[in-house]
Amino acid sequence: MSVAERAAWLRSEIARHDRLYYVEAHPVIEDAEYDSLWSELEALEREHPELITPDSPTQRVSGEPLEGFAKVRHDPPMRSLDKTYDRGELNQFDSFLHQQLPGETWDYVVEPKVDGVSISLLYRKGHFVRAATRGNGEIGDDVTANVRTIRSIPLSIPCEAELVEIRGEIYMTREGFAALNRLEDEAGREPFANPRNAAAGSLKLLDPREVARRPLDAVLYASGSLQGVSFDTHTEMMRTFKQWGFKTPPWLRLCLDMSQVMEALDELELQRHAFEFEMDGAVIKVNQRRLYAKLGSTAHAPRSARAYKYAPERAQTKLLGITVQVGRTGVLTPVAELVPVSLAGSVIARATLHNADMIHEKDIRVNDTVIISKHGDVIPAVDGVVHELRPAGTVPFQMPSVCPVCGGETMRLEGEVATRCINPECPAQRVGHLELFVSRNALDIAAIGGKMAEALVQSGLVIQPLDLFHLDCQKLATFRLIAEDGSERRFGKKAQDVQRALVRARTLPLHRWLFALGIPGIGETAARILAAPFKTFSELKTTHLFHEVTLFYDAVGRRAEDIPNKEQFAGEIVYRATALAHRGLVLRDDPARPIRDRFLLTIKPEMARTMIRFLASIYATHVFERLEALGINPVSEAPQESGTALTGKTFVLTGTLSRPRESIEAFIRAQGGVIQNSVSKKTAYLVVGENPGGTKYAKAQALSIPQLTEAQLLSMISENNHPTELNPEKVTESVTTPTATKTESKQYIQDDFLGDFV
Ligand code: IVH
Repeated sequence: MSVAERAAWLRSEIARHDRLYYVEAHPVIEDAEYDSLWSELEALEREHPELITPDSPTQRVSGEPLEGFAKVRHDPPMRSLDKTYDRGELNQFDSFLHQQLPGETWDYVVEPKVDGVSISLLYRKGHFVRAATRGNGEIGDDVTANVRTIRSIPLSIPCEAELVEIRGEIYMTREGFAALNRLEDEAGREPFANPRNAAAGSLKLLDPREVARRPLDAVLYASGSLQGVSFDTHTEMMRTFKQWGFKTPPWLRLCLDMSQVMEALDELELQRHAFEFEMDGAVIKVNQRRLYAKLGSTAHAPRSARAYKYAPERAQTKLLGITVQVGRTGVLTPVAELVPVSLAGSVIARATLHNADMIHEKDIRVNDTVIISKHGDVIPAVDGVVHELRPAGTVPFQMPSVCPVCGGETMRLEGEVATRCINPECPAQRVGHLELFVSRNALDIAAIGGKMAEALVQSGLVIQPLDLFHLDCQKLATFRLIAEDGSERRFGKKAQDVQRALVRARTLPLHRWLFALGIPGIGETAARILAAPFKTFSELKTTHLFHEVTLFYDAVGRRAEDIPNKEQFAGEIVYRATALAHRGLVLRDDPARPIRDRFLLTIKPEMARTMIRFLASIYATHVFERLEALGINPVSEAPQESGTALTGKTFVLTGTLSRPRESIEAFIRAQGGVIQNSVSKKTAYLVVGENPGGTKYAKAQALSIPQLTEAQLLSMISENNHPTELNPEKVTESVTTPTATKTESKQYIQDDFLGDFV
């Protein structure tokens, strides 16, 4: 046998064993034997790289991380399915088909509906060439490199046809999902909500090596474009797919009429927890493929198939009590303690009640008889109460006003349904705090994963995250850490990684530190916004900006969300205030004053209030002291610009403007702009009012000088709202002070100053 023949034989042997293992779950050789086939092939390919073929098993995980995904057009489009929860509607579907197909006979196939991500696989002359996601049905992403890593998808099939497009679903097994989430948790990352999200997220990863580690699998149940091969029936096609080495739906019933379809649906419902994927219903398909074209499809779905969704499984039981758990982020979650009841294949004794609002909405009380349900693989939930069965003397639930773990203050942040313990030193939050502190977008101390964080806290080594900076590297390496589950861990060599990461952390920018502090309600985005105005941490600590934000919103008497276009709003206020000031009028509660800090409108009032509260807290004082002692004063990443969009630019005004010409000129000058009386090559913009003057206008056109309306002029300032040019102190000095009281002046601002605008 030649080397090439040997390589080809090894490839086909490995493919055969992959299929036996991954598709048929029926391995026939020992792992060691399989491994030796692999090593031999790898060695051969190393010596003779010219022998490597794209469908060699060694090529499943190859290539560099991608920059992004190329787009793929689906022909025919990848449609969805019309779905129903109602069996009556299925009978209507059958009647409709009879009406559409007079004189025809057909049967139906019932299959589980796999809850995953649709995929299209393309084979040319038997070789796998491309995989694409559904996307919007017309255009999807080319995810070939990622899909190649899925071992149950054959890289070549025994079919010489020019083109075979096979469609189906990529899913993550329930087991694989649970294992992945354990890893995510250990790494301190947010776990996936369900297997479907995990599968979708995995397919979108840009590094195929990363994808290869995700427990993905695929079931194929439909065709796309076929050239050189055809099938009479769906069942025949499924048989062929299987022969080619694909996984097909593990459960399939051929039904001669609707009564058999209904029986199949009943039977399948009993199996719903038996599959390794999550089933989110059943699919009923016409078996005779030649009828598909006759029936056609709507923009959304083929007329030859329907999805049927089962009602969520429910059970009735008694609510014994409501306990309140404090999560790692301080969120108080009410939990129903139930008389144990069996549901969806497991015994349920506890269910989440989500939050206080939900309990009140559904009026759930201790001692009630409640209905619980389980949607997919998620935590069971209490859906509602059987009011007729409510005993006398029940009382509405009240969320505890103090944290059940630390006795600290709890509160509901604006815009949140969750009640939180806001004590940053609450023991329930220690692990969570540390996890956040070391997480990638905070201080990125990767060597401390979820389990390590837990063990550090449990062992008492770290109470506050900043304690990390006091840990001795040598001690850390040898210290035996006991986790919550009693397991023992050591850092060993990883202690050095921790130390290195801590050194680097000292130099990370301000927003990362601000996020790392774990201030309730201040996520990563908020931290960036809040850090931007400041050069250093010290500057942030002593700022008045947060007070100014709240004062501003008080002054204009509006909530942030009531101001849809903040830029225009700001521009208008500055414009008017500037115009007023020019006429010698003054505003005591001048809302324009703080706007001249360009950051003011980026900060939401609730963020500002959170920061004010935090900065005033004992905890913050303590943290600042420690940071100072550690010599840590993070610096902002954001460049501090100066000037405004008008600075140094030359303007010419023409036509009738909404305000006296001189006030607008003053406004422009105040923003650093220069006023010219006639248009020249140097003119940056012509500000055009009504009935613009002929010469200026014509000349500007001839020189292609951009024109601005007043609104556009305003938006230039407001979109790039720099503080420096219009010194608020100077404005106040140059105008006379009215005698109005503070409240009156507020009225004045609201009624007259902003009157026609708001
Ligand atoms: S046949 C015309 N069969 O459900 C599309 N689809 O909600 C071909 N799905 O987009 C559909 N299991 O991604 C078919 N056994 C099955 C299925 C199935 C899951 C997905 C498919 C479709 C979605 C519609």
